[in-house]
Amino acid sequence: MLKVNDINVYYGPIHAIKGISFEVHPGEIVALIGANGAGKSTVLRTISGLLRTKTGSIEFDGRDITKTEAHKIVNLGLAHVPEGRRIFLQMTVMENLEMGAYTQKVDSPKAYERIFHHFPRLKERRRQLAGTLSGGEQQMLAVGRALMSRPKLMMMDEPSLGLAPLIVRGIFEIIREINSRGVTILLIEQNANMALQTADIGYVLETGRITLTGSGAELLKNAAVKEAYLGA
Ligand SMILES: Nc1ncnc2c1ncn2[C@@H]1O[C@H](COP(=O)(O)OP(=O)(O)O)[C@@H](O)[C@H]1O
Ligand SMILES: [Mg+2]
Repeated sequence: MLKVNDINVYYGPIHAIKGISFEVHPGEIVALIGANGAGKSTVLRTISGLLRTKTGSIEFDGRDITKTEAHKIVNLGLAHVPEGRRIFLQMTVMENLEMGAYTQKVDSPKAYERIFHHFPRLKERRRQLAGTLSGGEQQMLAVGRALMSRPKLMMMDEPSLGLAPLIVRGIFEIIREINSRGVTILLIEQNANMALQTADIGYVLETGRITLTGSGAELLKNAAVKEAYLGA
C-alpha cells in the first residue's frame, strides 16, 4: 500500500533523513519508533507531501506520489494525524470534524455517525469547543477528523504524547479497532512499548536511519531495543 524507497530529506543544510526505505502492506499496523529528534515526524511529513525528498520515491496505492501536492494525497486516501494534534481549539467538535471532511464533500450525517461510533465521548461533546476537551479527547478528535476523509492509510504521529497511561491504552485500543475495520496504520511513537505491542511490524529509527526491523513481538524481545527504548 505504501512503498518508501531511499528517501533523503533536508532542512536547509541539516540532513534529517538518510536513505530510508520501508513498506506498509494493506491491513497492517506498522510502527516507526525512535528517540526524540530521530526523524520520525520528518518521514511522515514527507510521505504526506508537506516536505520533499531529494532522492528516491514514494508510492501509495500503486501511484507515485513523490511530487504530488499534500491535499491531493489526502484525496487519494492517505490521512495524517499530526504531532500535537493541531485541532482548532476555538471550534466545536462538529466543526473540527467538518474540517476533516472538506476535501471529500462527505459532510453527511452518516459520516459523523461513523466517527461517533468509534468515539461516543465526542458525540456527547459535539457542540463543545475543542479547547475545553481533555488531552485524550483532543487526541480522539484529531483521529476522528482524519477518519472523516475515509482514509485507506492513516498515519499517526505520537498519539500517546502527554497522555496518562490509562488514556494511552484507550487510544491504542481505538487504533486496533480502526485497523480491524480495514484502515491500514502507520504509527510513530516514542512510547515503544505500546507501539510494538500493537504493531505487526516495527522499524527503529536512529538519527535519520533505520537501524533495526522486525515483527513487533521480535523487537519487544530485542536486547538493544529493550536497553534503548523500553527502559530495561
Ligand atoms: N523545521 C525544521 N527545521 C530544521 N530542522 C528541523 C526541523 N524540523 C525538524 N528538524 C530536525 O530534524 C531532525 C528530525 O526531527 P523530527 O523528524 O521532528 O524528529 P522526531 O519526530 O523523531 O522527534 C531533528 O534533528 C530536528 O532538529
Ligand atoms: Mg516528532
